[in-house]
Amino acid sequence: MAKRLNARAAAAKLSWQIIDKGQSLDAAISDFFETNDYSPQDRGFVQELVYGVCRWYGELDAIAATLLRSPIRNKDRVVHFVLLIGLYQLRHIDTPEHAGVDETVSACKQLDKQWAKNVINGCLRNYLRAPNEFEEDVNKMSHPEWMQHAIDNAWPQHSEAIFAANNQRPPMCLRVNTRQQSRDDYRLQLKQVGIDASLDDNADDGLILASPCAVTSLPGFNDGTCSVQDTAAQISADLLDVQIGMSVLDACAAPGGKTAHILERCDNNVEMHALDISERRCQQLLSTLARLELTANVITADASKTPNWKIPSDGYDRILIDAPCSGLGVIRRHPDIKHHRRPSDIDALEGIQTALLDSLWAQLKPGGVMLYMTCSVLPRENEHQIEQFVARTNDAMLDDIQHPSALTLNYGAQTLPGVHGMDGFYYCVLRKQ
Ligand SMILES: C[S@@+](CC[C@H](N)C(=O)[O-])C[C@H]1O[C@@H](n2cnc3c(N)ncnc32)[C@H](O)[C@@H]1O
Repeated sequence: MAKRLNARAAAAKLSWQIIDKGQSLDAAISDFFETNDYSPQDRGFVQELVYGVCRWYGELDAIAATLLRSPIRNKDRVVHFVLLIGLYQLRHIDTPEHAGVDETVSACKQLDKQWAKNVINGCLRNYLRAPNEFEEDVNKMSHPEWMQHAIDNAWPQHSEAIFAANNQRPPMCLRVNTRQQSRDDYRLQLKQVGIDASLDDNADDGLILASPCAVTSLPGFNDGTCSVQDTAAQISADLLDVQIGMSVLDACAAPGGKTAHILERCDNNVEMHALDISERRCQQLLSTLARLELTANVITADASKTPNWKIPSDGYDRILIDAPCSGLGVIRRHPDIKHHRRPSDIDALEGIQTALLDSLWAQLKPGGVMLYMTCSVLPRENEHQIEQFVARTNDAMLDDIQHPSALTLNYGAQTLPGVHGMDGFYYCVLRKQ
């Protein structure tokens, strides 16, 4: 059986696996806690450290370079992450200095790198004697350079706010299942178990928790009282405006957050086809629907190809394309995106988005509405994509989106983290003539 690591050693190992080895943050953390039994408090601390190092890697790595006499060898790279864990505690959270240093140093032994104790101890103590201050924007420098340029170019007036928001801990947002009760009633239920929540001004079914908690602490979660979903994702149900009895295709549906919201809004009275290319993610979608007691026809298929499923004879009333994208609007929730995304990914994603738009348009009924959306802030995946689509598609008309909490663009609308108080999403409503 694997040795049980203390929280700091565990966090160093996990952040090394995520940042250097390319593992996804969600998968690394959930696999780790599946096989290692930690108290809720230790779990929380490990997560805080791993998220923190993923967020602040650029800054922490630059400081580490000034403290180390020579870089740590590749075969010992986990030691480099022990140092980053130590610096994160001293710089960004209120760990007492002695614990920040001593406990971090002891992680070396736990990771069978006893020799590194003096190195880490020396670096952290030197740091405490003269903490680095940077003239550059530390939020910005904690993004890879290509991302800095892409965000600066896209949003010159907002990029500072976006970089800052990307490094902050996001709020935990809920979508109340209004088939079961109103959000006011659920808010009261939360209060009774000591969970403070405010009404989300930008999402009719939304609550924002004063501080995050485990979903298992939310009253009735397993019985479908609510779901965890950011405000920006909840806005999509308003824009798609599905009415009871309509036929709807959710073309990139898994794990099912938006499918479920649409069904909840219509009291489950929608002919819903929920498609996803991934079999594994379709299983997650089925679990979402089961928990919320909703029904949809779940289909594993490539939505960019000629349909091999039965579509309504006159086409769908509504189609949602929540397109696969770079995720550059949700970095605050998934800071590993900074480390895993490459510029070449955007080219590939653009191609998939174009193919989805073209193929799915043919399945929309005349007079029907398609909502194209992404959780990206890059115009290439968003406004430019739609500008080109409209130019080559004679029967596509753009509906105006005047949302009080989004920027109205020439083509569609955009929310930005740090500007609109929610994740960064793009939306475009297209109507077929
Ligand atoms: C942004 S996520 C969807 C999130 C989902 N709408 C929700 O609210 O929970 C994009 C999804 O598109 C799926 N996908 C990617 N390419 C696809 C394709 N060609 N056809 C269908 N689904 C695809 C991915 O597997 C992924 O689950």
